[in-house]
Amino acid sequence: MRDAENTGSILITGASGQVGGELVRLLASLGTIHAPTRAELDLADPASIRRAVQTLRPRWIVNPAAYTAVDRAESDREAAFAINATAPGILGEEAARINAAVLHFSTDYVFSGDGTNPYRESDPTGPLGVYGASKLAGEQALAASGAAHINLRTSWVYGTTGRNFLLTILRLARERESLTVVNDQHGAPTWSRDLARLAAIILTQAPDAEAARRFQGTYHATAQGEVTWFGFAQEALRLSRRSGLDTRFARLTPVTTRDYPTPARRPSNSRLDCTLLASTFAYSLPPWQQSLASVMEELFAASPAAPAA
Ligand SMILES: NC(=O)c1ccc[n+]([C@@H]2O[C@H](COP(=O)([O-])OP(=O)(O)OC[C@H]3O[C@@H](n4cnc5c(N)ncnc54)[C@H](OP(=O)(O)O)[C@@H]3O)[C@@H](O)[C@H]2O)c1
Repeated sequence: MRDAENTGSILITGASGQVGGELVRLLASLGTIHAPTRAELDLADPASIRRAVQTLRPRWIVNPAAYTAVDRAESDREAAFAINATAPGILGEEAARINAAVLHFSTDYVFSGDGTNPYRESDPTGPLGVYGASKLAGEQALAASGAAHINLRTSWVYGTTGRNFLLTILRLARERESLTVVNDQHGAPTWSRDLARLAAIILTQAPDAEAARRFQGTYHATAQGEVTWFGFAQEALRLSRRSGLDTRFARLTPVTTRDYPTPARRPSNSRLDCTLLASTFAYSLPPWQQSLASVMEELFAASPAAPAA
């Protein structure tokens, strides 16, 4: 039995994050946006989640917020599971009460990364670390909640703001003489804005929970193509050099994952097959090179004149 209908608005969690920030801008034309701060909606606190949803009564809940510190999660399991595993289930339960739908974001790290084939949605999962395990548990909790839901698994998210590989590499390449970058993990770097565009397409095609149920399930959603972290860094520095703004860069050296030990193990194969997304929503994210070029243009446009060599 449902409590009452929703208000027609869109609740976006994690608005300070890479994807959340883009969602707030790109979904604005589709309804009133509620973008609570962590103080107003703390995913680590079930009561806070229930209170926020019951007060705002949105039509859609879009949940890009997550505990995304992959290495820290190894020693902070409880927090990672509270935010990534328990919270999506509670969002789902509250959504079901008011007949709202949930658009959730998950990760390639739910897979073990064996082999070289792109993973399909139906392939067996097997996370290598706490972060991946917590995200997988979140997918399952949402699916069990009874809410109309769509779960987008993406990979290697970057953009013009926030903590991401691209911005780190661009900074380190100016600060250091040489840089080593892992060259045996394969995936698709995905621009946060492309994911927000996809979200806008999904919410347009499925404006309410009833429509969302027709699309319900998990979809792989990454940029087209594949590359290693080393190849991605190489292309970013090539574009940066071409802009003429930066004149000096560190030398890049490819290394293996074994040469660069981290607390969390990472999949060597992060390739996701996005065929289902394309056939369902008639949309594919652009090739990673195209989006990287757009991001670099935006970064150059925002940066001050080139410093003297
Ligand atoms: N980044 C990647 O490479 C990557 C790859 C694959 C999948 N994904 C998935 O894609 C989604 C978006 O990732 P992203 O890169 O945009 O993440 P992000 O930039 O790290 O942002 C995470 C957001 O979650 C919020 N958050 C964390 N803990 C919270 C809590 N207890 N209560 C409320 N909000 C909380 C953060 O708020 P604060 O600013 O207050 O910390 C921040 O706004 C996530 O679901 C992630 O798992 C990411």
